[in-house]
Amino acid sequence: MKAIPEPYKIKAVEPIRLLSRREREKKIREAKFNLFKLRSEDVYIDLLTDSGTSALSDNQWAGLLQGDEAYAGSRNYYHFVDTIKEITGFEHVIPVHQGRAAENLLFTTLLKEGDIVPSNTHFDTTRANIERQGATALDLLIEEGKSFDSDYPFKGNMDLEELRRLVKKYGKKRIPAGTMTVTNNSGGGQPASMENIKSASRILHRHGIKLLFDACRYAENAYFIKKRESGYARRSVKSIAREMFSYADGCTMSAKKDGLSNIGGFIALNDGKLATDVSNLLILLEGFPTYGGLAGRDLEAIARGLREGLEQDYLDFRVNQVAYLGRLLEEVGLSPMNPTGGHAVYVEAGSCLPHIPRKQFPAQALTVALYREGGIRSCEFGGATFTQTDKKSGRIRSVPMDLVRLAIPRRVYTHSHLDYVAEVFTEVGKKKDEVRGLRIVYEPTRLRLFTVEFEEI
Ligand code: F0G
Repeated sequence: MKAIPEPYKIKAVEPIRLLSRREREKKIREAKFNLFKLRSEDVYIDLLTDSGTSALSDNQWAGLLQGDEAYAGSRNYYHFVDTIKEITGFEHVIPVHQGRAAENLLFTTLLKEGDIVPSNTHFDTTRANIERQGATALDLLIEEGKSFDSDYPFKGNMDLEELRRLVKKYGKKRIPAGTMTVTNNSGGGQPASMENIKSASRILHRHGIKLLFDACRYAENAYFIKKRESGYARRSVKSIAREMFSYADGCTMSAKKDGLSNIGGFIALNDGKLATDVSNLLILLEGFPTYGGLAGRDLEAIARGLREGLEQDYLDFRVNQVAYLGRLLEEVGLSPMNPTGGHAVYVEAGSCLPHIPRKQFPAQALTVALYREGGIRSCEFGGATFTQTDKKSGRIRSVPMDLVRLAIPRRVYTHSHLDYVAEVFTEVGKKKDEVRGLRIVYEPTRLRLFTVEFEEI
């Protein structure tokens, strides 16, 4: 059989509504051309993010009713911890309300000014949390990972030569940890191979440096290893994930992705002293260590979601659905990033809107055009999001590509929603000369994508 249908049927539905063209025009202007500022009810198909947007299963909804909301020692906390220990093998588990809280707690505890943290690619919240400590977040992605067209199967791999050189030069004193983002969100949702993870681990460990995962999409990464790396085809995704974690000393995780939950996250560590220090800071910033900023019911939904996120038929459907959108966009004449990522399709804006120069944010202009044409919300992953002017040095940190990310929420949309998305791209293509570039009128100091405002040129 070639068809991979949804491994579930629909029990509850949430109506969506397409506003009229005139209403959409008004809404996007009011949002200052930043789609984060739209109300979700004014969006028809929401591909802004796969984070926190999953549909819960009936099993998770049932779990919500079993929330034990005791301040300390909730039953759900123990289920949460046992599940994460079983999946990762790490000894200490600390709940937090989402991924960036984990990053803040961990990097505040671990880093000092002048430190360096190498990664394949840091996600922007990770980078911001490292830089807030006065440390440097360094991306050491392999060359293939920077190429939009390369069909290399593990474009999320770390450049091991660069890592070796860096570690030799600065050692443990300046590099307390290296991280790997699996899958690599800022680099197209591309996986890292087991081989690469193992080697990065060996290089870091030889110098007494920790390897930590940014594990948001670890199950999708493990699935790609099963499909693409020799020796793993017959292994369960769960056992592959466990092997991945065995090469690391801990992780931060946003459970809003592969945890199939609407909120939550955790830090998991082997180092008991570090875990205690993080827990003490947790009490100050998030809450008591057995709930870490979450309700008991949230902990239960995550424990159940983590297991469901490793199921073979769920992952078969999930990864294939993302690839389906990639194929549709190819059919309508686009060339999305190759191969398709685990959670999203990435489109290069220059190929759709060649008349808009990079300094006028073509990828942001494309997100605006997709909303105007069909009520689709997507996310800019290019100059508007990542370019930042250093206020002191005036240095501009730019990005190699201007991408639009179409992230697919888990278990939410059907193939016909995605057919519609492809049609909207076709319509935008027909009218591309009408799409205008943008100029920034407001810019925050950090994490620009969320609150930046534009006007049309
Ligand atoms: N790390 C990665 C790789 C992420 O993709 C995200 C969030 C985080 C950390 C932070 O987690 O949102 O729970 O605080 N990514 C979302 C996205 C925002 O749309 O890709 P969080």
